[in-house]
Amino acid sequence: MTRRGSAAGSIVLAGVLASTLAGGAAAQDGAETPTSLTVLCTPQEDWCQAMVAAFGAQTGIPTSYVRLSSGEALARIRASAAAPEFSVWWGGPADGFVAANAEGLLEAYASPEAAVVADTQKDPDGVWTGVYVGALGLCSNASVLQELGVETPDSWDDLLDPRLQGQVAMAHPASSGTAYTALYTQVLRLGGEDAAIDFMKQLHNNILQYTKSGSAPAQMAGRGEVAVSVVFSHDCVKNFDEGFTDLVVSFPAEGTGYEIGGVALIKDAPEAEAARMWIDWSLTAAAQEIGQTVGSYQLPTNPNAAVSERSVNLADVNLVEYDFQAAGEARAALTQRFEDEVAAQPVE
Ligand code: F6P
Repeated sequence: MTRRGSAAGSIVLAGVLASTLAGGAAAQDGAETPTSLTVLCTPQEDWCQAMVAAFGAQTGIPTSYVRLSSGEALARIRASAAAPEFSVWWGGPADGFVAANAEGLLEAYASPEAAVVADTQKDPDGVWTGVYVGALGLCSNASVLQELGVETPDSWDDLLDPRLQGQVAMAHPASSGTAYTALYTQVLRLGGEDAAIDFMKQLHNNILQYTKSGSAPAQMAGRGEVAVSVVFSHDCVKNFDEGFTDLVVSFPAEGTGYEIGGVALIKDAPEAEAARMWIDWSLTAAAQEIGQTVGSYQLPTNPNAAVSERSVNLADVNLVEYDFQAAGEARAALTQRFEDEVAAQPVE
């Protein structure tokens, strides 16, 4: 892991700056600029890179990141809680933040920039704030489907088709926020955890592989290793644009889940002032327009940010009523059930 500056040095600096930094991405007049920031980053690598480069250039704060899937990020924050490695967690579905907060791993920070974000897209106490929105979809390889004589799936039950045996990929819900969204979506549409686990057991018969990262299955479908992947639709679009032109996006007609990607301050953050500056900045329209420059078409939560034509139009998708608080609170026990009753976590 890359990390700059000593934790002790950063704690002293945070104390000096605490009363002088009010918001925005720049230290206020007379305040020293924080000396480092390491971001725990859950979206795709190139977006993480573009974000830390832009923030570093604008603030002068040497900024680096470590990319980890939601479940891995949560495990890493938990493991280093006594001496946190990271100060801010950016990206990944909000239920991961709710789960982290339930373990006392986050610290509330109500950013002044959060005022523009809809109440439905942020925690009322400022524990997490939404930075983007995405819908869960099915990302299929049209050529492979044609070879198999299978129509493009547009229902969850279509994934249970025996002709798709070994032809479906998704991530594991313990490591991936995408896959946890898929699992909790089954709870919501089927009316309970038992029914959701039962559906996942049936789906397991058709699964070729559970990946760690939520977006990896879209690449597998793009390469023709599987016919269908369960991913956020923007990851399918990104892979299509990067050359996997056999990919097609569809949505389960009976209802699909969605994410609000969050940002949050980590408890006892060694670089707390820089982390607050990051949170403020990540909520601005300019910062939220960076994703589309690297093919990440999540919808912005800042209503002043431009929306790409490549982004999903949520009005066209039947969304389940996703409760991020309930989903986050259920996360630990439900992923354990998945491990015990459906499939163990992938090693790699
Ligand atoms: O690839 C980007 C993305 O789909 C984000 O929209 C999402 O928050 C994140 O990945 C989840 O990653 P993972 O499923 O690996 O935890």
